[in-house]
Amino acid sequence: VIFDDSNTASIKVAEEIATLIRKKQKADKTCVLGLATGSSPIRVYEELVRMHKEEGLSFSNVVTFNLDEYLPMEKDNRQSYWYFMHEHLFNHIDIPKENVHIPDGTITGDQVLEYCLAYEKRIREFGGLDFQLLGIGRTGHIGFNEPGSHYNSGTRVITLDHITRVDAAPSFLGIDHVPRKAITMGIATVRSAKRIVLLGWGQNKAEIIKKTVEGEISSHVPATYLQQHKNCTFVLDTGAGSEL
Ligand code: GLP
Repeated sequence: VIFDDSNTASIKVAEEIATLIRKKQKADKTCVLGLATGSSPIRVYEELVRMHKEEGLSFSNVVTFNLDEYLPMEKDNRQSYWYFMHEHLFNHIDIPKENVHIPDGTITGDQVLEYCLAYEKRIREFGGLDFQLLGIGRTGHIGFNEPGSHYNSGTRVITLDHITRVDAAPSFLGIDHVPRKAITMGIATVRSAKRIVLLGWGQNKAEIIKKTVEGEISSHVPATYLQQHKNCTFVLDTGAGSEL
């Protein structure tokens, strides 16, 4: 779906999420959201916060799982995805603290495998992801599933692509400070979501959006795997959709 601008599009996506939360609330059920970081979802989060403050949208029945985190990364580091999520969403809504899951960037060595398996297990314990929000990286990554990621991959440690590190460099004040690794949900984890919405804004996403939507399904562009999902929508602005 191509919108005239990212603001209108973000409001639509926030409305879909709010409708899902309310529907689950009425049925006395938990709403399990997979959440993304990066600049693309910021306006969606802002709108959800507004709905909480002005319309009484409650997040008391919401459980969240974030896609990824840099490794190594301390929670209170300004570049952490933990910090990002709290700054843009969690600090401003009524979600119970224990319902928030963000991969732990301090995990090391032989704890990693166990940690990743436990992350997957926890998602399953809540009945799986009802909704997964995604952005897309220039390499075609979703979460941090870089080119080469397997269709059946689960939560794991990944080595970041050079292009991804270049793109992250400004916020780290130089590429030398960008971590080389990350923990990310896998392609299979993302695919397991009942509903997926990928956001793409601006001309600089146009090329990767075209490859993702119209290109051959391949691990070279991991986001192409989404072509096979039964309930996935790409929400774009005119810039990102300009090459389709
Ligand atoms: C990072 C995140 C991705 C995100 C991507 C694009 O790599 N791990 O989840 O989709 O950035 O970011 P932006 O939305 O700022 O373009």
